Amino acid sequence: MCGNNLKNIFRSTFSESADPLIVSSPGRINLIGEHTDYNNGFVLPAAIDKAALFAVSLREDDEIHLYAHDLDEKFSIRINELKPIEDINWPNYMLGVVAQFVKKGTTVSGFNAVLTSNIPMGAGLSSSAAVSCATAFALNELYKTRFDKITLVKMAQIAEHEYAGVKCGIMDQFASMFGEANKVIRLDCRSLTYEYFPLDMEGLSIVLLDTQVKHALASSEYNLRREQCDNGVALIQNKYPEVESLRDADMNMLVECVPGEDIIYHRCKYVIEEKQRLLDACAALEKKDTATFGEKMFATHDGLSKEYEVSCKELDWLVDQVRGNDDVIGARMMGGGFGGCTINLVKEAAVENLIEKITPAYKVALGLDLRAYIVSLRNGTSIID
Ligand code: GLA
Repeated sequence: MCGNNLKNIFRSTFSESADPLIVSSPGRINLIGEHTDYNNGFVLPAAIDKAALFAVSLREDDEIHLYAHDLDEKFSIRINELKPIEDINWPNYMLGVVAQFVKKGTTVSGFNAVLTSNIPMGAGLSSSAAVSCATAFALNELYKTRFDKITLVKMAQIAEHEYAGVKCGIMDQFASMFGEANKVIRLDCRSLTYEYFPLDMEGLSIVLLDTQVKHALASSEYNLRREQCDNGVALIQNKYPEVESLRDADMNMLVECVPGEDIIYHRCKYVIEEKQRLLDACAALEKKDTATFGEKMFATHDGLSKEYEVSCKELDWLVDQVRGNDDVIGARMMGGGFGGCTINLVKEAAVENLIEKITPAYKVALGLDLRAYIVSLRNGTSIID
């Protein structure tokens, strides 16, 4: 939707004549470095050409009125009654952010807002982080709070912890806020220092294959993985007290401190290996060695599927289908897991053919309709004129 249409919807929803502020915040992909952000490791995400749009103007009272245009649902609450909403989920990504402004001592007034998004939901493209980032960015403007972008990213992340119950890392919000056109971001999740890498993969397209499933255990299993990593760190610390996170650990320490048959061993092994895989993949990217980069992606998938156990049969099927296909340089499941998309680096000339073949085969094998998105890399959160 363009900004003008959204303005019209805003005006008719709230019978307002003044223009709202409109902020756009994109979804994200991640090339490699999965489930490493909350282990203080590195990630390699980028913002994509699908975004959430948030149109908002302040009210004189303390009422928040939200309209989710795509769902045609409304929700209202007063600021002094702010709390996570249990029976519907979508308001939480905005209310959770308002709660962060309150916590920081901002004088928060009510507002009217319309939300629309073309980021597929539940597809592992961070549709929820995009909403929280758009909200944080817009309210920062309207409340004149002047928080820097890193602070806004952290506020959006904590909003998700507190209002959606998912103890997510920082990658999604960071990528949505800091994305740059045609670039991936190598983010060090410990120091929050980052570098932009031009994604110079001539002749390759990024194709997302959407399983169209989101298994219900995604959030609980996500939180459990975090816990298992923390348990692993605690075991390693018995011998190596200087290890603060899996970022500081290596395979020798793990072998010494955690029995190989323990599930925690496998979780930590994946994370420790993924840390190195990302660094190797970045080195390959710098040398324009896409073949090595692609191999690393397949290896990441195997680790996520077998050691970290966050894949599912639909994701495994999609990756297995493209393995050994010369037109597909690399593929793996992307994001938290248990559904969502695979990310595939595909030779441009072969994209159409791949989608045409894999879609009906997926239907036959799994009884589901596949969706495919060819994405390009765009700028992060910004105000739309
Ligand atoms: C989800 C979380 C991120 C990250 C990924 C896995 O998208 O929100 O913080 O942990 O899963 O890499």
